[in-house]
Amino acid sequence: MMTAPEDRSVPVDPESQRRLRDLGLDYRIADMAIDADAEGFLRADARGFLDEDPTDAAAAELRETMRARRNIGVYDETAGSWPIATVNGWRTAMTVPGGEIDMWAISSVTVSGTHRRRGIARALLEGELRAASAAGIPLVGLTVSEATIYSRYGFGSAVPVANLTIDTQQTGWVGAPVPGRLLYTDRATLADDLERLHEAARSSRSGQVQGWRGRWERMAGLSVADKDASKVRGVHYLDADGTVRGAMAYTVDEMPGTFRSELKIRTIITETDEALRALWQFVVQHDLVDRASVDLRPTDDPVHWLVANQRAITTRVHDHGWLRVLDVPAAIEARSYNAAADVVVRVQDALGFADGTWRVRIADGAATVEATDAAPQVTLGVVELSAVYAGGEPLLRLAAAGRVQGDSDAVASLSRAFRADAAPLLGIWY
Ligand SMILES: CC(C)(COP(=O)(O)OP(=O)(O)OC[C@H]1O[C@@H](n2cnc3c(N)ncnc32)[C@H](O)[C@@H]1OP(=O)(O)O)[C@@H](O)C(=O)NCCC(=O)NCCS
Repeated sequence: MMTAPEDRSVPVDPESQRRLRDLGLDYRIADMAIDADAEGFLRADARGFLDEDPTDAAAAELRETMRARRNIGVYDETAGSWPIATVNGWRTAMTVPGGEIDMWAISSVTVSGTHRRRGIARALLEGELRAASAAGIPLVGLTVSEATIYSRYGFGSAVPVANLTIDTQQTGWVGAPVPGRLLYTDRATLADDLERLHEAARSSRSGQVQGWRGRWERMAGLSVADKDASKVRGVHYLDADGTVRGAMAYTVDEMPGTFRSELKIRTIITETDEALRALWQFVVQHDLVDRASVDLRPTDDPVHWLVANQRAITTRVHDHGWLRVLDVPAAIEARSYNAAADVVVRVQDALGFADGTWRVRIADGAATVEATDAAPQVTLGVVELSAVYAGGEPLLRLAAAGRVQGDSDAVASLSRAFRADAAPLLGIWY
């Protein structure tokens, strides 16, 4: 997705700029059109994530992806030309039940090991929240390296996903036959397929965001930075009319000393149930393969009902998509609902953005939200509101954990209303 020019010109947050200036640091846009800015940002980002220093070719590739983002570096003139901290953000559509919402995606949060624990990350995160709020964006999202960092800024784990390992020797295939056919594809076709299919399929699951070209090229084994690029294989599924409805990128690695292999799925993207069944059948029945693995699948992937032995599948559900509501009425009114409700909700937000008491009325699947002085029936924090927002985490689950207070009927009615039919999904890392 190309970020609109106005996203890159969202001004840097003056409050964070002031706070960091007080620490002797310069907080400013790292402009990808300027060689020195791009070099420093990309290399500091890689160092922050404990990656290898990118080759010149890999840096050039990354720079293309970063051009579509609003990149910020924090510079300490006594510490060389690379920034000592990085962050970037861009506007994207996120799918919600019944539609989509404007979201500010945040990535590349790093603080150099020489400058840690001085409040720099806090200045970066709060700066992104204020900048997104000032630009009128109601929701912020990120994926995390550590699950303990972001709730202090109001983020909740909202889109859990499943990591699946299938012991293919322990199971047979019981899925219904499909009328189309599978074909191997070359890598360029694979990248095109993945890009197009993701765009076509992302509206079917709450939590999905727009992809970008560099991501599909990397998945398809076209990235110069990818050490496994030459191992990548692709297959796609054509329906009975010959239209591509699904594609999968994967690698096969020998399991040491066994002459048998593990099929590691990089991504499966499908537009139809039939395409997903065809690709799973290819995986489960693959010759010389004892094990298949994949991450970032929806928690309701139908694969368990396609195999003869469900115990051959090990499922590990883990946090993946984190959300942070900034504008309560805009966020709640952007999605559709499964049940009626009429509840006064108190949202607590130490950073202020979402703080308030709201009357939430849901009828015929649509919500209206108004600020009110009425006594709240349900009280929850912005973390908890953000966690249930995509429809994947039941409010009742958070209430059982003591994280939501109030009248039990009101909590139950909101919990029912917010649940999405299909499990949310975020099929990409960012
Ligand atoms: C995580 C990271 C960005 C924190 O930077 P920092 O400037 O040292 O953080 P701050 O000094 O602003 O601390 C902010 C808060 O986060 C906490 N914190 C910092 N690092 C943390 C970590 N790894 N785990 C949990 N909490 C952490 C601090 O204790 C502090 O808490 P408080 O505000 O409640 O007192 C930095 O350690 C880093 O670059 N790590 C490697 C890259 C990475 O993991 N980035 C996150 C990508 S999703």
